[in-house]
Order: sequence, then structure tokens, then C-alpha cells
Amino acid sequence: MVNISTKTLSAADLAKAAKMLQDGKLVAFPTETVYGLGADARNGTAVAAIYAAKGRPSFNPLIVHVPSLEAAQELADFDDDALALAQAFWPGPVSLVAPLKAGHGLSSLVTAGLDTVAIRVPEHALARDLLTLAGCPVAAPSANLSGQISPTTAAHVLSGLQGRIDGVVDDGPCAVGVESTIVATNPARLLRPGGLPVEALEAALGHPLGRDLTPDKPSAPGQLTSHYAPRAQMRLNQTDGALVLGFGPVDGALNLSRSGDLLEAAANLFSMMRQIDDMADGDTLISVAPIPMTGLGLAINDRLSRAAAPRSGGATTG
Ligand code: TXA
Ligand code: MG
Repeated sequence: MVNISTKTLSAADLAKAAKMLQDGKLVAFPTETVYGLGADARNGTAVAAIYAAKGRPSFNPLIVHVPSLEAAQELADFDDDALALAQAFWPGPVSLVAPLKAGHGLSSLVTAGLDTVAIRVPEHALARDLLTLAGCPVAAPSANLSGQISPTTAAHVLSGLQGRIDGVVDDGPCAVGVESTIVATNPARLLRPGGLPVEALEAALGHPLGRDLTPDKPSAPGQLTSHYAPRAQMRLNQTDGALVLGFGPVDGALNLSRSGDLLEAAANLFSMMRQIDDMADGDTLISVAPIPMTGLGLAINDRLSRAAAPRSGGATTG
């Protein structure tokens, strides 16, 4: 287990992490959204090891990370909408689902046998350096055990995956804090709200974005309702209770953003969900203050409502 921290990170350390990816190892790394668990997306054995490390119950398609649009276009065919979105928002917190291109070279475990692939160019400087050095497309789901909250620090990664992965690159907390927005193309539609607000996508497209969020028949299987599972029970849109996760003027044991800033709230969300879950004991209910449904509020409410959803046995996928 190699723990590579930016407090001491040298070019040689990053090269070592890149070499590990090339050698088929599992390396967790930061992106601006959440930490990902990376493996060479062309190496079927390495990709299978991602599923094993996460304890994912089934093969769900993974997001492929590349350093540039040019690298993405070697893997998939981009229609006009996909190109417009990539040019407007890459590098950044949006994943685009597009038809696989002939000769893409990806393991079919990455796409779970679909004829499309989800691709992302992260903005995080260290992630892009790592992808460039590795020189291979990197499949990376969030670096958490299946069904748990996505990690936004290296410590979160280790709390779930220590001993199950080969290394982690530590660059502190993630700036955005919720997973990427996923957009399918041809026709353009939203599969998962995330770190890039829908309003920004619609402004760039010049038309409203369709939605494809059906939880029981998901095109993005991470959409299954019980994806995020804190131990304690949560109820949303509450302003009082024994243990309140506050927002704005509604205060509590913790507050996602006292000033009501949705960017700050998203960045704090998963850390505070972990912290407040640790404070809850037995059957304490966690109350979560109302959060507006605009901008990043859509993704924040989406993740919170999954955490508050009744548990349905083996339906977790993330
Ligand atoms: O921010 C993020 O997106 C993070 C960082 C590490 O990049 N990754 C992430 O991956 O959240 P994961 O595996 O936890 O979620 C990937 C989602 C899943 O819900 C999966 O079903 C969907 O992407 N997905 C992947 N390929 C797809 C495809 N071809 N069609 C539809 N959905 C797809
Ligand atoms: Mg996940």
C-alpha cells in the first residue's frame, strides 16, 4: 500500500503512481469532484479488481478519465451536442456518455457490455498530470466501498479501502465535493445531477436538457435509490430535531454553509454526512435543513434523498 501525499509529492512520486496504473494496479486519486479508484481501462483484470475492491455486487459501467478532448475522441464518437458540452465544460465536473468508437481498446467490463461509454476530463491539476503520465484511459468509480458515501479526502478513501487497493494519491479535500453531472448524448439528456449545474448545461446547449433519471430502470445504475447509506436514518426539509444538519439560517450540530452558499455546501456535504452519522447513535434521527433546488442544490438534494431513502437490500451500486 503506497500513500502518496502532496505534502511531500515529487515528480518521481507522481511518476510512480502513473507506473502503478500502467502495471495494472489500483490507485485512488483526487479529482475536483470526489476521489476516484483508478485502473487502466484497457486492462480487464485491473478493471475487475476495481469491482472486487469496492465490493460492487454487479458490473455497472464506469467513467473513463482522460486528460483531453482529443484523447476522449479516440474512444467515442461525439455528436454536435457532445462536442459543444465538451468544449464548454472540459476540463470540469461533467461526464459525457457517447457511442463507443471502433478500435477503442477499452475492456468490456468498463462499459458493462453497453455500446456507449461515459468519459470525463477532470480539471484537478494533479489528476490531469497523472492521466497524462499514465498515458492510458483510466476507469475510476468513486473510491468507496459499494453503497457508501463518496470520499472527498484521502482519509475517507482509506477508511473504506485500506488493504484492498495498491495506493492513494493525497491532495487534500475535493473542491466541488459531489460527483460529476452525467449527460447522455444523442439526444442530450441528464442521467445524474452533479457538480456542474443543469442551468449551465442548458445555457451552453441553447435548449432545455431532457431527463432520464428513472430509478427503477436506470441508464446510470448509480441512480438506484439506496446508493448512499449512512447508518443513521435521515429526514429531509426539517428545521428541528435532536441532530440537525443545517444550511443557511437553519443551524444545527453542523452547518453545510452558514451563508447559504451552495458551492460551499456541496464541498462540505459528504464530509458532514460522515461526521453527523458518527454523532448519531442508536435510533437518533438526523434532520436536514431545506436546501434550494437551484444550481448545485439539485445534486445536493439528490444525494441527500438517496441517503434518506428506505434501504432496499442489495440495490446499492456505487
Ligand atoms: O465525479 C465522478 O463522476 C466520480 C469521479 C471519480 O470521476 N466518479 C463516479 O463514478 O462517480 P461512479 O462509478 O461512482 O459513478 C459512475 C456512474 C454510474 O452511475 C454509472 O452507471 C454511470 O456513471 N455510467 C457509466 N457509464 C455509463 C454509460 N455508458 N451509460 C450510462 N451510465 C453510465
Ligand atoms: Mg460512486
